[in-house]
Amino acid sequence: MQILGIETSCDETAVCIIEANGDISDANIKILGNELYSQIAIHAEYGGVYPNLAKREHAKNLVPLLKKCILESKTLSENKVVLSDSKKEEIKKILEKEPELFDQFSSLFGDNIPNIDLISVTNGPGLEPALWVGVSFAKALSKLWGIPILPVNHMEGHIIVSPLEKIDNNEYKLKEINYPAITLLISGGHTQLVKVEKNFSYKIVGNTKDDAVGEAFDKVARILGLPYPGGPQISRLAENERRENPNKVSEYKLTRPMINSKDLNFSFSGIKTAVLYLTKKIPDMTDQIKQDIAKEFEDAVVEVLIKKTSDAVIEFNARTILIGGGVSANKKIRNDFKKLSEDLNVELMIPEVSASTDNAFMIAISGFINKIKGKEPTDEFSANGNLSLEDQA
Ligand code: KG4
Ligand code: ZN
Repeated sequence: MQILGIETSCDETAVCIIEANGDISDANIKILGNELYSQIAIHAEYGGVYPNLAKREHAKNLVPLLKKCILESKTLSENKVVLSDSKKEEIKKILEKEPELFDQFSSLFGDNIPNIDLISVTNGPGLEPALWVGVSFAKALSKLWGIPILPVNHMEGHIIVSPLEKIDNNEYKLKEINYPAITLLISGGHTQLVKVEKNFSYKIVGNTKDDAVGEAFDKVARILGLPYPGGPQISRLAENERRENPNKVSEYKLTRPMINSKDLNFSFSGIKTAVLYLTKKIPDMTDQIKQDIAKEFEDAVVEVLIKKTSDAVIEFNARTILIGGGVSANKKIRNDFKKLSEDLNVELMIPEVSASTDNAFMIAISGFINKIKGKEPTDEFSANGNLSLEDQA
């Protein structure tokens, strides 16, 4: 079946059309069209993501991205949209809070309908104003084309790209997972350990008490005067430090937050504050010192992630570790988790770097998985900024 995925939960506007076949444990997935517009440069000026700015940018870019994606995917059918006055009114109502989007949306009225069997859209978690644009857009498309729609959880999207194996340029296989699996979800908004059982069912077994790990990377980067998003910047400096001073012990020792707590929870707000106080005491902040602090910070965070994931694997007898979310693009995390999986003798599944950060490919696949799990398409849903993985039974 052919699925259109739509993602607008944060600062990436993305649409993707896939062709997916097979069963949950052995699916074949082909990307037919994939378009992404990153707002990073716009938000970088402000040092973080502004929800209303994100919303406006999504509204501006969704229609052009969709048109490009449909052309690229060659999915246009011979069938023209039949638009009655009442249908037009219904679409207008769906988009009543998105006037800018409605203006662009009308340009789709004269087009042909694409050969798509299902639309899947992120309805949470994320920034609610941003989510609403994608959700309203998906509902309006569903109405316009008469194609069913399924809401999906953004975090499930991050999980679902980890068992993908690339078999050709645009072709992937969803590898069979040995359950139970432990997923470490690390993004700008989440730090969670999730137990995953057969058919992608989820139980959250660990969570951050305050900041998410990506958020900590971004905040520490800001303290060090590095641009948004800070994760890749910190990671680059830390790499330099390891290469240039391989045996040096940092002068700026940071604690490993909650590493010895008896649970699977995290806390990253204290370490950010520790970096802030540390930098205030340094009168002359050189590039060398920044590099040293970046490395120490990355070491501290990764050590905690490794320890807690290892504890979870042992506690639940997991046979697989999955890693998902934007922070999984981090090189040290990729290397250290590879070593951990070898030490624990479990399989490691980690997405390719291009699929780690937000994209619509993962949303389309999640739509497919939910469809074959029997979830009923519906347009009776809303955006929910706090949606949890456990909400979708
Ligand atoms: O999953 P994602 O794209 O968006 C959310 O759903 O939040 O994750 C974005 C986060 C940002 O905090 C960014 O700084 C972080 O992922 N990130 C990284 C790296 N690349 C992205 N953090 C550390 N190292 C990286 N290489
Ligand atoms: Zn994300």
